Amino acid sequence: MILQGKKILIMGIRNKWSIAWGVAQAVTSQGGEVIFTHHPMENMEKLYALIEEIPGAKTYPCDAESDESIEQALKQVKQDYGKIDGILHCIAHANTEDLRNDFIKTSRQGFSHASDVSAYSLVATARIAKEEEILNENASMVALTYFGSEKVMEGYNVMGVAKAALEASIRYLAKDLGTDGIRINAISAGPIKTLSAKGIKDFGSILDIVETRAPLKRNVTQVEIGNVATFLFSDLSSSITGEIIHADNGFSITGA
Ligand SMILES: NC(=O)c1ccc[n+]([C@@H]2O[C@H](COP(=O)([O-])OP(=O)(O)OC[C@H]3O[C@@H](n4cnc5c(N)ncnc54)[C@H](O)[C@@H]3O)[C@@H](O)[C@H]2O)c1
Repeated sequence: MILQGKKILIMGIRNKWSIAWGVAQAVTSQGGEVIFTHHPMENMEKLYALIEEIPGAKTYPCDAESDESIEQALKQVKQDYGKIDGILHCIAHANTEDLRNDFIKTSRQGFSHASDVSAYSLVATARIAKEEEILNENASMVALTYFGSEKVMEGYNVMGVAKAALEASIRYLAKDLGTDGIRINAISAGPIKTLSAKGIKDFGSILDIVETRAPLKRNVTQVEIGNVATFLFSDLSSSITGEIIHADNGFSITGA
């Protein structure tokens, strides 16, 4: 039980296919307590039914595009639970047309929107968590990224650029949070069929390519990503910060 006694805030739950849900399952299986945030426009009836599966779990509305909303959610969590031990950032969004058209056609607004929701929101969350003393010493933050930040992946477009910004932010945040004994890392997850992934053109063929080319010849599951997050939230990873850890069945090491 490597997370016994630890409280982990999972930001970005949408449905049972969400990576956030896989992380919640893995965290609770190791004795951790989970708290969620969701986009304020989420279908609450379905979300409450899902969250009820974890006894005592609560969710708070949080719009990643608004510092005020992030601050309100984090302050409310501190009021209800006291200081916490980990935060998962599991949030991303890009305009559909920016994932369907060629990257060169990305609008200024689309570029800004994808970067704001998918990368800047992590910086704002870390800053507010630090200023409001939300996190215990030895706490750990984890974000989700994808290989499309490193190499050109068909259809990933502006999201690849936003993830590159997220990954660079992880390194700078690791420096600033390290003085408080807080760690921050990202998991570069292999592709998983979620609602967000559906926005990416021809996502099915991305899954097929991984099965063919990845050394382990299969795709990853939400819970496998959750297990890596669990390790990063635990004291077993106490020497790791500022890293981007690939959890992709080895796909990223392959060449032609
Ligand atoms: N599915 C994949 O193949 C894959 C691979 C690597 C990384 N990721 C990353 O994993 C994370 C979770 O995505 P997922 O695939 O589980 O999809 P998902 O659709 O289940 O989760 C995305 C979440 O982002 C939230 N969100 C979007 N805009 C928001 C806003 N303005 N404010 C608050 N929340 C907002 C959505 O409500 C949703 O809960 C994302 O960062 C994604 O880029 C996904």
